[in-house]
Amino acid sequence: MEVHGRVEDLRAALGSRPRPVVFVPTMGALHEGHLSLVRVGRNWAGGAGTVVASIFVNPSQFAPHEDFDAYPRPLERDLEMCREAGVDLVFTPPRDVMYAPDASVRVLEERLSQGLCGRSRPHFFGGVCTVVAKLFHIVQPDAAVFGEKDFQQLAVIRRMVRDLLWPIEIIPGPIVREVDGLAMSSRNQYLDAESRRQATVLHQALGLARAAIQGGERSSVALKELMETHVRTAPLARIDYIELVDPDALTPLEMISSQVLVAMAVFFGSTRLIDNLCLRDLTA
Ligand code: PAF
Repeated sequence: MEVHGRVEDLRAALGSRPRPVVFVPTMGALHEGHLSLVRVGRNWAGGAGTVVASIFVNPSQFAPHEDFDAYPRPLERDLEMCREAGVDLVFTPPRDVMYAPDASVRVLEERLSQGLCGRSRPHFFGGVCTVVAKLFHIVQPDAAVFGEKDFQQLAVIRRMVRDLLWPIEIIPGPIVREVDGLAMSSRNQYLDAESRRQATVLHQALGLARAAIQGGERSSVALKELMETHVRTAPLARIDYIELVDPDALTPLEMISSQVLVAMAVFFGSTRLIDNLCLRDLTA
């Protein structure tokens, strides 16, 4: 496995590697969820090709009050995990490679990024699109893998690629969970023991929604109420949002018909956790 921090070095290394090139962008602090994205990418390439991962904590997707400085950066451990997962090349650019001090160009998606996480983190998707656009330009992958836990991010990236006519296939990676159901996230390590215990309410609330929908419930108000009541059984939980939206347009649904994304964000202290459930092909 080769590790490069400079664009020219990564490009030179890529020049002698087989295509297809599959890209897995990350902010490091890797866990099993990221490794599953590497496997999804490798499978997409039929077990061949080149898998490139990037590790870069992107300042432009954090608001000033968020956890950019505190974000974990266990680089040696991350590289070891990449090596074990079979990544071929890792790109670890320093900040000044990705952002000139007077950088003044941003990439904005203006529709799908408005609701859900975009409401409480208005800077977030602009930062993500900007850095992913740069990374795509540097790596020039045939495909890139994004996790479904960040469902809205996946939708926004797909839209960016479609609207900018980039020949990159966006591959979704399924959510990976801890044994008690908590979706894996680099931010889980911020949780103290009691918050960690209570954080299972997200997954449980989604399970209740799934059961109710499968039992015929179609009203968003009723489903939200059911989920909120459950999340409130965790005294440390503070709901940011629970929403039922169309999984393609991400617009709110009053009544569910054939498909729904149930998405939620819940704070435990200053740690914000997200999770979701996407159901398609529902019958009335
Ligand atoms: O999902 C993430 O880890 C980040 O948002 C991404 C896509 C690597 C961009 O910084």
